[in-house]
Amino acid sequence: MNVIEAINPRRSIRQYTGEVINDEQLKILLRAGFQAPSAHNFQPQEYIVIKDSKTLELIAERHKYAKALPLAGCGIVVCGDLDKESREGSLIADCSASIQNILLAVHGLDLGAVWIGLHPVKEFSEIISEILDIPEHVIPIGIVAVGHPDVQKEAINRYNEEKIHKEKW
Ligand SMILES: Cc1cc2nc3c(=O)[nH]c(=O)nc-3n(C[C@H](O)[C@H](O)[C@H](O)COP(=O)(O)O)c2cc1C
Repeated sequence: MNVIEAINPRRSIRQYTGEVINDEQLKILLRAGFQAPSAHNFQPQEYIVIKDSKTLELIAERHKYAKALPLAGCGIVVCGDLDKESREGSLIADCSASIQNILLAVHGLDLGAVWIGLHPVKEFSEIISEILDIPEHVIPIGIVAVGHPDVQKEAINRYNEEKIHKEKW
């Protein structure tokens, strides 16, 4: 699949067959995360892989927008280490680049995923930090719920000329 073919039809998937992704697929997804750019190349991204069904259920119980997680069977929590990148804005950008890379790699593997937001909603990031024993200097930015899709979603064309400014605003 070429990169444009991966970007344009990608959609958030929240319905899964229940089959858990294998280690080879997981490694490809993590590799895609690691390949993301980061400001100053500080590479502050860290990853927590969750496959334990009890943990996935606990997160879904406590995070109202994470209901897809248990059936997905795998969650990749993308975190940013403030000791490596002290500017929070850059940390968020770096982790978001990793999350997007993972989402596209998921699509390339014919798997399905959804980005579950954590930071900056304190309620959500604190729940995850507590459940996963994340240290103070590490901010969980988002979770990629990933699994085998049980639904096909139509591609949406969001291209909008009105939002494109030529040379100046
Ligand atoms: C920062 C961010 C946070 C998101 N948080 C959630 C979430 O907590 N739960 C969820 O089901 N989807 C979440 N999404 C997915 C969006 O709802 C989804 O990308 C959007 O509706 C567009 O749909 P599409 O991904 O199918 O194109 C999030 C997306 C982003 C970028």
